[in-house]
Amino acid sequence: MNIWIFRTSREAAHAAAAAMAAQLARKPASVLGLPTGRTSLAIYEELVRLYHVGEADFSTAHTFNIDEFLKVKSGDRQSYCAFMQKHLFRRVNLPADHVHFLNGDAGDPEAECARFEDDLAAHGGMDLLLLGIGSNAHIGFNEPGRRLRARTHRARLAIATRRANVSLFRGRLDKVPREALTMGIATMLEARMIVLVATGRSKARAVASMLTGEISTAAPASLLQLHPRVEVILDSAAAEKLPQPRFGAEP
Ligand code: GLP
Repeated sequence: MNIWIFRTSREAAHAAAAAMAAQLARKPASVLGLPTGRTSLAIYEELVRLYHVGEADFSTAHTFNIDEFLKVKSGDRQSYCAFMQKHLFRRVNLPADHVHFLNGDAGDPEAECARFEDDLAAHGGMDLLLLGIGSNAHIGFNEPGRRLRARTHRARLAIATRRANVSLFRGRLDKVPREALTMGIATMLEARMIVLVATGRSKARAVASMLTGEISTAAPASLLQLHPRVEVILDSAAAEKLPQPRFGAEP
């Protein structure tokens, strides 16, 4: 894993956006795996800027989002789908039919997960997977536990994760779904390149367990150590529990 440490979260976000724009320049018809969450906001903001200045072209790209709440309709304000529409998709030149999402409201969630896997495979898999990390080292909605399911599946959310998502539900924890659909870690590990971004002190322990701990289902992000090409982009606060923080350039 290559580790890049920036002084501020803004610099880290810009480095991640630059890595994505570079991927799109290398291969315009790239398949991108995308997350939601606070960390991704500054990255999408910068990608929109890069699009406006002609440095990021989404016209032939395809996107696959990595997770969605169960029993939440894609049009609902709280859905991850609505988040992506608002912060990225509606603001760049990505064709609407190039957006691929798990339907959290599907009648048969297991069949929906299989459909998503088939759709991703039919598009040749992900060229670049952008990830955030939860404070408990979850990726997507793959929560710490004794066992993990490899492929896209229905997952139960940890209380810490539900709390972290509470702002989407007007601060009402009881309204945050208890389950979600998520890309599995084996699916994530098939991406040709992974860019994981973590910013802020609240992620420092998770980052340390991902990078310096044993590979364990207790820290799902540690499984990324098995991937040959992972760029980990951090700000100094997220890096503060690493043995030797060092400042780096853009990947
Ligand atoms: C959420 C999402 C993840 C995201 C993570 C971090 O629950 N399911 O895909 O990467 O938690 O979110 P944030 O960037 O808001 O800290």
